[in-house]
Amino acid sequence: MNNTLNTLLIMEKRTEGKGEVRRSEDVEREAFGIDALDDALEGGLPRGTWTVVTGEPGVGKSILCMHFAYTGLEDDEPVIYVTTETSFRDVVRQARQFNMDLTQFKPVNLSDVLSGRVKPENAKLVVIDLFGLYRQYREMVKEAGEEGRRPSRALSIEVLEGAVRKAYEVLGFSEGKVSEPSRLIIDSMTAFWADKPAMARAYSYALRQSLYRSNITALLVSQYAPTTEASFGFGLEHIADGIIHMWMDKVEQTKTIRRWLIIKKMRLTNHAKDAYQVDIQPGKGLILIEANETQ
Ligand SMILES: Nc1ncnc2c1ncn2[C@@H]1O[C@H](COP(=O)(O)OP(=O)(O)OP(=O)(O)O)[C@@H](O)[C@H]1O
Ligand SMILES: [Mg+2]
Repeated sequence: MNNTLNTLLIMEKRTEGKGEVRRSEDVEREAFGIDALDDALEGGLPRGTWTVVTGEPGVGKSILCMHFAYTGLEDDEPVIYVTTETSFRDVVRQARQFNMDLTQFKPVNLSDVLSGRVKPENAKLVVIDLFGLYRQYREMVKEAGEEGRRPSRALSIEVLEGAVRKAYEVLGFSEGKVSEPSRLIIDSMTAFWADKPAMARAYSYALRQSLYRSNITALLVSQYAPTTEASFGFGLEHIADGIIHMWMDKVEQTKTIRRWLIIKKMRLTNHAKDAYQVDIQPGKGLILIEANETQ
């Protein structure tokens, strides 16, 4: 469905019968395609904002990213999908289990573009995986020559930045021009500062400054260590316009997996304040259940 229409319908649904108007006007929204979540966000993420998804392993962060990508593509919006945790082939396989066929959008891998193997024409889905980052790293080393400043390793913020900029070029987004509404997904950011967690905040600022475009809505994953509950990506939360936090009850106590999601912050949005229980269902993916429906 058209995003704007979707937004209007959801806003109407949220406000009806409440006797008060809750809508945040003049904000275009980027939907997830997950009904309760879009409803909780007045239609979706505000266009052009940066949202971080935080949480421990297995809570559903990557699946949330797949929904965000798929719904954007279905709405005919270009998507840049950075995957550092798994190969894109595995992203495709996982998404297919939830009835989201990403192959129909003919994904173009940045590493194939950089090697000249693929000429991207009318690309809609540009994938940056570890191969793409490594190729970008080699290009940057070559360009820097013997004397120049070269990135220290492939998994660094400057390489990520360079790779995403190339993806912008593939999609025809030139600097200084307003690009068409599109989505940037980075799953996950953690790998880029694993060896320098103290730098996360400074890196986050630099990344946002360099990659920000008014029509590009970004969803970035930040992993939390389950033992210490410390975030490796601490810093990202401060630069983000939105924080969606996901977690799991302690399995030793519940003896079953019970997942939760809460919108901790979302600029420009009168968002839901309560946590939702999360279910992951074959054929459907993430389902959110309002807390008062779970008792
Ligand atoms: N086909 C399926 N049907 C139902 N549940 C599934 C299916 N496939 C995966 N899951 C559930 O989704 C979980 C993985 O979710 P996801 O990959 O989004 O986690 P994550 O938060 O990204 O974790 P990590 O930080 O380790 O990357 C699995 O552990 C499993 O419980
Ligand atoms: Mg993941």
